[in-house]
Amino acid sequence: EVSRNRRCDAVSSSTTDVTELAEIDWDKIDFGLKPTDYMYAMKCSRDGEFSQGQLQPFGNIDINPAAGVLNYGQGLFEGLKAYRKQDGNILLFRPEENAIRMRNGAERMCMPSPTVEQFVEAVKTTVLANKRWIPPPGKGSLYIRPLLMGTGAVLGLAPAPEYTFLIFVSPVGNYFKEGVAPINLIVETEFHRATPGGTGGVKTIGNYAAVLKAQSIAKAKGYSDVLYLDCLHKRYLEEVSSCNIFIVKDNVISTPEIKGTILPGITRKSIIEVARSQGFKVEERNVTVDELVEADEVFCTGTAVVLSPVGSITYKSQRFSYGEDGFGTVSKQLYTSLTSLQMGLSEDNMNWTVQL
Ligand code: COI
Repeated sequence: EVSRNRRCDAVSSSTTDVTELAEIDWDKIDFGLKPTDYMYAMKCSRDGEFSQGQLQPFGNIDINPAAGVLNYGQGLFEGLKAYRKQDGNILLFRPEENAIRMRNGAERMCMPSPTVEQFVEAVKTTVLANKRWIPPPGKGSLYIRPLLMGTGAVLGLAPAPEYTFLIFVSPVGNYFKEGVAPINLIVETEFHRATPGGTGGVKTIGNYAAVLKAQSIAKAKGYSDVLYLDCLHKRYLEEVSSCNIFIVKDNVISTPEIKGTILPGITRKSIIEVARSQGFKVEERNVTVDELVEADEVFCTGTAVVLSPVGSITYKSQRFSYGEDGFGTVSKQLYTSLTSLQMGLSEDNMNWTVQL
């Protein structure tokens, strides 16, 4: 057990002294888990208040077999990234948006949640304690994974009596094995990700287990991922398993509107705001599967994915292709604007980054 004082030392020394990098091959990182030094845990007891969060060495956690999260899926997660700048400073991207989204999800899942301040402070503490795992500039980012779970024991179906907020981190590179090359999607016509009135609009863990089957089938056929349609009409685009979708036609950018079945992505929202600030017309609306035929460009957005161009989409054995073998003009412009901002390569005129 590391004492509380030593835990604090670990954080403060990491902010001042620890400048060296972990010894891994930074040119070879993908989106796989690399164990780091510390994780952060904060418990919430029956009074509904979170308190006394602290760092502890990264490792397995003890959990009651009857925990709400294990039995009834009462859990949420978040994802955000930290980038190392050339001058050594560390940038977080809109962490308070993740905090707010977790609070919204917690309300839907009958869970208490940390305050926005608690969430952001915990993220900062965890990142600084693991500073040596933040990739050098241009080599990737530190992916931050906050979890909120019902860790109290329940047997009958009910909200758990106790909750744990936990953050772990891992250095990551590109999400798709294609790297920044275009991905190939298949429109899913059998399975659905979300239903009206369900939990598709919050980042609950069960949404991700539910897409594994379709994703595995698609991957076995050589596709990068699955594009879901709405379950009522089987006609409107919803999202990909791990990211939101956009189409571009005649320089107008369109993306499915948020209506409870689509995850309100922070990258999605940021891309919309960046695009509008650059004079693009952006429509949040019902986008039909037929519009894929005429689209000039298609791209996906997400924290893990960042902005990924889509090279082709297959729908009922028809294949629609976009561009030759690279980014479309609009996709590329938005990708560059967003990533320059996130990495601190351009001035943050949106006031989105938080420097550590
Ligand atoms: C993220 O983009 O951060 C996500 O949470 C998606 C996940 C499937 C990696």
